[in-house]
Amino acid sequence: MKIKSANLIKGELNLPGDKSISHRAAMLLAMAEGEAKIENFSTSEDCTSTLNCLQNLGVEIKRNDTDVFIRGVGKKGFAKPEKELDCGNSGTTMRLLAGILSGQNFASILIGDESLQKRPMERIIKPLQLMGAKIESDDGTAPLTIHGKNPLKAIEYILPIASAQVKSCVLLAGLNTDGTTKVLNPESKKRLSPSRNHTELMFKHLGAEITEDFGETGKFFIHEASVQGNSKLRAKNIKIPADISSASFFLVAAGCLEGSEIIIKDVGLNITRSAIIEILQGFGVKIEIFNKREISNEIIGDLRVFGKDKSKPKVLSNKIEGDIIANLIDEIPVLAVFGTQIESGLEIRGAEELRAKESDRISAVVENLRKMDANIQEFPDGFRVEKSELKGAKVDSYGDHRIAMAFAIAGLFAKGETEIINADCAKVSFPEFFQVLQNVIR
Ligand code: S3P
Repeated sequence: MKIKSANLIKGELNLPGDKSISHRAAMLLAMAEGEAKIENFSTSEDCTSTLNCLQNLGVEIKRNDTDVFIRGVGKKGFAKPEKELDCGNSGTTMRLLAGILSGQNFASILIGDESLQKRPMERIIKPLQLMGAKIESDDGTAPLTIHGKNPLKAIEYILPIASAQVKSCVLLAGLNTDGTTKVLNPESKKRLSPSRNHTELMFKHLGAEITEDFGETGKFFIHEASVQGNSKLRAKNIKIPADISSASFFLVAAGCLEGSEIIIKDVGLNITRSAIIEILQGFGVKIEIFNKREISNEIIGDLRVFGKDKSKPKVLSNKIEGDIIANLIDEIPVLAVFGTQIESGLEIRGAEELRAKESDRISAVVENLRKMDANIQEFPDGFRVEKSELKGAKVDSYGDHRIAMAFAIAGLFAKGETEIINADCAKVSFPEFFQVLQNVIR
């Protein structure tokens, strides 16, 4: 894919449904009693992997474009699959499904593509084993053979990392126990690092008994989440907000190109996902939020973004680290590109988890930005990028959708032409990305 430098972008966008919420909607409705519709289901390949796995587990699913109809089988009503369950490139599919499969009275095998089969699975194997499932793996990686059991044992689990996938996996397994399953923060049990809480919100939407303790500091720092094993999920229609992680590419592009104006409708603004907005605003990008409302227990709103604001940025520090990292983990590749366009540059630390994503995103960002002439320094847990004049170059997506899209945005800012090798992998989360981008370039 070749990208030319652009002057500005303009337009009104309706982006595909949120990937994280779509996975959860499909899985939870599959575990529910009754039939319901999901509207604006993610068009990503990852979410198609989830639907395919559920069908192979005996769930009746009809799909009509972005409408998906699911007839639930109940919490322990899945059928033993006749073949291996292929999660493709999707870590969320594998880690969340493992939680569901651990509570079924049969054995099943989860496989994935080359990238997924290299990613760490020990983080879910450990708690699921504590709950009573037997899991065989290839030294902590997939293929995973899950020998499920019902009921599982309810546990109190201190998360070793701020991962919503691990948290959700344990909570889903918790639905097939006789007790209360609780997940807590690593440090001093005081605070659960604020990873996305879509599972918790959707449990509530479908009537499961779940409590989230947000603690004194307000809604951002979640202490713990507990689910009752005897909870029932009742089928209920779900509407999926537009994906804020997909929106972030356009927020950065519009924010950096003077004269741009973009409206993005119905974007998911869950506080555990929306830090990208405050960060960009902090560096002087003008983003207005309007029409804020609630759908299916998630906050959504419309965003209007303007190109370069002349007012002084409110930024206090150009270093992003600590608890906020989990909130914007998927936006860091495009934030690195943003860092090349702002006076202060940008430093990201405490983000070592990026090395365990679809690619090693720290080294992918550093390699590619260097090829584009950026001044960037690599750390084990992040990088520091200075304001740089980017020049078009041949960069690699490393088979990682977010790297492909982040470097398409870098290409808009660079002099000359940028070529992205294997850009097609954008379809893992956002198949329409290059078309949508083309349509807004002026
Ligand atoms: C996701 C959680 C995050 C994120 C991933 C989607 C989810 O991963 O990076 O793209 O849907 O729960 P971790 O939970 O492993 O940090």
